[in-house]
Amino acid sequence: MGFLTGALPDFPWDTLTLYAERARAHPGGIVDLSVGTPVDPTPQVVRDALDAAADWPGYPLTHGTPQLREAVVGWFARRRGVPGLDPQAVLPTVGSKELVALLPSLLGLGAGDVVLHPATAYPTYDVGARLAGATPVPTADPAALLERSAGDVRLVWLNSPGNPDGSVLGVEELRRVVDAARAAAERDGRPVVVASDECYAELAWEEPWASSGVPSVLDPRVTGGDLTGLLAVYSLSKQSNLAGYRAAFVAGDPALVASLLETRKHAGMIVPGPVQAATAAALGDDAHVAEQRERYRRRRRVLRAAFEGAGFAVDRSFAGLYLWVRPEGAPQDCWTTVGDLAEQGVLVAPGAFYGAAAAGHVRVALTASDEKVAEAAARLTGA
Ligand SMILES: Cc1ncc(COP(=O)(O)O)c(C=O)c1O
Repeated sequence: MGFLTGALPDFPWDTLTLYAERARAHPGGIVDLSVGTPVDPTPQVVRDALDAAADWPGYPLTHGTPQLREAVVGWFARRRGVPGLDPQAVLPTVGSKELVALLPSLLGLGAGDVVLHPATAYPTYDVGARLAGATPVPTADPAALLERSAGDVRLVWLNSPGNPDGSVLGVEELRRVVDAARAAAERDGRPVVVASDECYAELAWEEPWASSGVPSVLDPRVTGGDLTGLLAVYSLSKQSNLAGYRAAFVAGDPALVASLLETRKHAGMIVPGPVQAATAAALGDDAHVAEQRERYRRRRRVLRAAFEGAGFAVDRSFAGLYLWVRPEGAPQDCWTTVGDLAEQGVLVAPGAFYGAAAAGHVRVALTASDEKVAEAAARLTGA
């Protein structure tokens, strides 16, 4: 056993293996709706950019090419209602999972420091706090905890749209957390960072988000024009079918980004040059994102109707890549639901992966081909 692994939970997906075997034994084969891994082709515009940048003998810039950083700035202005971001305050990351896992360490957090994260959450917020030796604290109300904290909260993770439950934070909710973090920093004389993981922002299904867009923590209505202590984390894995490229970035407070850059330069945490070029191309092209969004919208409609028709309720799921599902009626432990669905050859993720508060739900990913989605729907409804 490694020295650090003792401090970490078991890797959750390993515990799903037996259910995957059961689902694979279905005569029609498995429909895997557990991991949210994209299955549609990487857009041609992105592949072309990767190809064109294939000759890259030198080291790439840790800070990213100027073209990439300008593309991020343009994307924030065009798609997220965040105008005038400083290109210096943008930093590419090797996918966003590493940044989520390493941010507490990169910020120099350690024993005695508290990292708040959503009560029902992507597990890597917890892991990142543990890797740094800090204390992860799940909460549905970070502003309230900040208001009565003893000065030990140093980082607050937000995730909107949320994985796994598709909840969305509006401007007022974001602002309440940012104001509370600033008040706590002022009161305690120590910085408090608010990092918002927004990787599903382009996948909004329900109003008002479908029309108005999912707000960013960097939105001027949230920040009041001051980015101090704020970071937005974004990934192209889902919006552009680029999970294999590891294409993501963080942006926000220029001083914070400069300090992350400094550490990442020392540690060699660099996005490969051709991937930087491909990422810039993807951010400059809204058409492929709209196309992919429509694919997911169709699949979501089919799966939602099938689960509801088969006696399940879908909670929240306003945006993002998942349906957050539980059997109607009396609460049922998620592993029972996972087992029942595996008998039908449909593999889903147990809510228990996302925190104790989530043990009655399962997470259904929209990332399967149209054929597989239709097959899952047919099995669920007996059609
Ligand atoms: C909320 C959230 N953050 C971050 C990630 C990491 O994405 P990537 O490392 O592919 O950028 C995921 C992936 O599923 C996620 O759901």
